[in-house]
Amino acid sequence: MTLLSPAPLRQNRPPLPEEPQLSESDFQRIAAFSQREFGLCQSGDKKQLVHSRLIRLLRETGCPDIATLLLRLETDPQCRERTALISALTTNVTAFFREPHHFRQLADELLRPRLEALRRGARLRIWSAGCSAGQEPCSIALTILDHLPEACRLNIRILATDIDAAMISRARRGLYSAEECSGLSAQMEREHFRTTPDGQRQIGPEAGEMIRYAALNLIEDWPVQGPFDAIFCRNVAIYFDKPTQMTLWQRFARLLAPGGLLFIGHSERVSGPAGDCLTSAGITTYRLSATPDRRMK
Ligand SMILES: C[S@@+](CC[C@H](N)C(=O)[O-])C[C@H]1O[C@@H](n2cnc3c(N)ncnc32)[C@H](O)[C@@H]1O
Repeated sequence: MTLLSPAPLRQNRPPLPEEPQLSESDFQRIAAFSQREFGLCQSGDKKQLVHSRLIRLLRETGCPDIATLLLRLETDPQCRERTALISALTTNVTAFFREPHHFRQLADELLRPRLEALRRGARLRIWSAGCSAGQEPCSIALTILDHLPEACRLNIRILATDIDAAMISRARRGLYSAEECSGLSAQMEREHFRTTPDGQRQIGPEAGEMIRYAALNLIEDWPVQGPFDAIFCRNVAIYFDKPTQMTLWQRFARLLAPGGLLFIGHSERVSGPAGDCLTSAGITTYRLSATPDRRMK
């Protein structure tokens, strides 16, 4: 065969399936479903992105086409495509000590002034809501351990939740690549992680024991027990429409202890009625400064 000879005809191979198209009405159905079920906001300019994510979802789940996907989503609340859709429409991007000023504030305002009380058994509760693969709650735990090495034997707990059950399973394993650990100081990595035979890093039991992981959809009921001294909900509300965001802030305000801190993402702002009781306390940090109206939904 010379370089110029035509490619042989692929006579015995089945034709490649055509890439499923996303019609405007299917996009609207997916958008309505993800807003109703997960609080996610899919504006029209995201159609292309949603389309490419759905193609990947079909490939990964083996679902044959978008019509079948919609049918399964709308008729079977337990279908595997539901979880896959959440993963497809959100990003799980996270990092250890992302937005590090929040962890400094946690140490300065909630830990250092209370060290003696915490050593004597005072209660400290922190919620990482939308924790992705666990780097955020681990960073909270590492900040605490830095000040209280005996923290896992004290009355200190971190609740870490995410809508994506696959992320929660990953977080429970506590395994991270060397690259994912690049935000950690060498000392922190040495003291709190072990290297597995395949070169991954596993977080140690002291941090792991403080954290309780659970799958939880923030727009459904919360079977959680407050009050919390701090709630981290960073880079999550950005996916929600304004009314869903405002409801979320109010619900967090009701679960915070007096003076408790709410940490949110760099491009998020507390808005709506919760603004009456959550006052700015730093870069994208809010403090509960008045009693929230507990009747409000
Ligand atoms: C970009 S990550 C943010 C992770 C971490 N908070 C941080 O800032 O590094 C957003 C996370 O929010 C989760 N999420 C999206 N919608 C949610 C919902 N309705 N309820 C709970 N978690 C949700 C996603 O699964 C994803 O893991």
